[in-house]
Amino acid sequence: MKIHLIAAARPNFMKIAPLYHELASRKNLGPVIVHTGQHYDLNMSDIFFSDFGLPAPHIHLGVGSGTHAQQTGNVMIAYEKVLFETKPDLVVVVGDVNSTVAATLAAVKLGIQTAHLEAGLRSGDRTMPEEINRIVTDSIADHLWTPSPDGNDNLRKEGVADEKITLVGNIMIDSLEMARQRIEAQAVYLDYGCQKKQYGLVTLHRPSNVDHPDTLKLLCTELARISERLPLIFPIHPRTRANLEKFGLNHILADNDNIRLIDPLGYIHFMNLVFNARLLITDSGGVQEETTYLGIPCLTLRPNTERPVTVTQGTNRLCTPADIFDTFTATLDGRMPAGKIPDLWDGRTARRVADLISRM
Ligand code: UD1
Ligand code: UDP
Repeated sequence: MKIHLIAAARPNFMKIAPLYHELASRKNLGPVIVHTGQHYDLNMSDIFFSDFGLPAPHIHLGVGSGTHAQQTGNVMIAYEKVLFETKPDLVVVVGDVNSTVAATLAAVKLGIQTAHLEAGLRSGDRTMPEEINRIVTDSIADHLWTPSPDGNDNLRKEGVADEKITLVGNIMIDSLEMARQRIEAQAVYLDYGCQKKQYGLVTLHRPSNVDHPDTLKLLCTELARISERLPLIFPIHPRTRANLEKFGLNHILADNDNIRLIDPLGYIHFMNLVFNARLLITDSGGVQEETTYLGIPCLTLRPNTERPVTVTQGTNRLCTPADIFDTFTATLDGRMPAGKIPDLWDGRTARRVADLISRM
């Protein structure tokens, strides 16, 4: 069976890695990695292939950056050609990036079976490009594999037939457990002059936080205030780096001795910083899940989340740029309930998915 695994942007690589290895270990399941090229910097793409022991992509579409329509359209055009030539039996897409919906559209229209891993997540916020990508992908894919029961509920509410939906668990936990020994063997925080559990780790890249000068300025000012109580390490996403420079805000962070502004890191080094952080400040989807699994406080700068179990069961708290300082203070002073790990976030999701595929 020829199976395409679509990888495109940073959060995709850790989702396809455990599945690639599981499928490659089984008879008659031939995984083929298709990289759309949505992310292309060394530390936004290639580094994850070596971190997870993946082969170089078997097929590379080289699409790159662009507007939403350009990126989505270019992936569709390039991938359709590949589909005509290679005729896979199954296309597996992950997550909610532009390439996820583009590859699904191209495959479904040629009558090729498609599966969405991490299906059913909904923030209810249609101003997020990812929410549109989730809704469209789930409405056309043949197999919907969800990470948590809220995903099944959301899909049923949208009228999806029960037989298309399977709760498989959270593949991000497979990646973490796959890499745990190598993560724990590091002490990356020392490189930035920090001590275990005595720093905060920051990631920000959502357009709603970083594309508007006033919001980004307020966030920089609040991070500077926070850093007076807890030093911060901030591996900065290329979108955010570009906007800090464009809006003339870089100096607020770069000239502050309590803030280490660094390039994005590979998975092993980044996760070592997560494991040893006192808390996270983020707007990332994946980081909300990783911190819940590890029981580390996570302050998420968003008005909503498509991963509600991280709030109802885990250590995640939503906050706004205006109340982040108060939420931070409450967390540092210990007013954060201990979380629990959601069911099926157990490192066995790739196995469950491979079992489903082998029965197709
Ligand atoms: C994308 C996803 C988002 C995901 C994020 C993970 C969509 C709509 N957005 O957002 O859901 O959370 O990836 O990181 O699919 N750039 C570089 N180098 C790179 C990649 C991007 O410099 O390797 C810069 C370019 O200027 C580009 C900008 O970052 O225009 C944004 O990249 P893009 O992939 O369009 O969106 P992200 O913000 O990365
Ligand atoms: N990550 C990383 N290096 C970094 C920042 C993030 O390896 O410098 C990892 C981390 O595991 C995170 C994942 O990349 O869960 C997804 O990242 P991102 O926030 O870019 O995407 P999202 O989950 O928001 O779509």
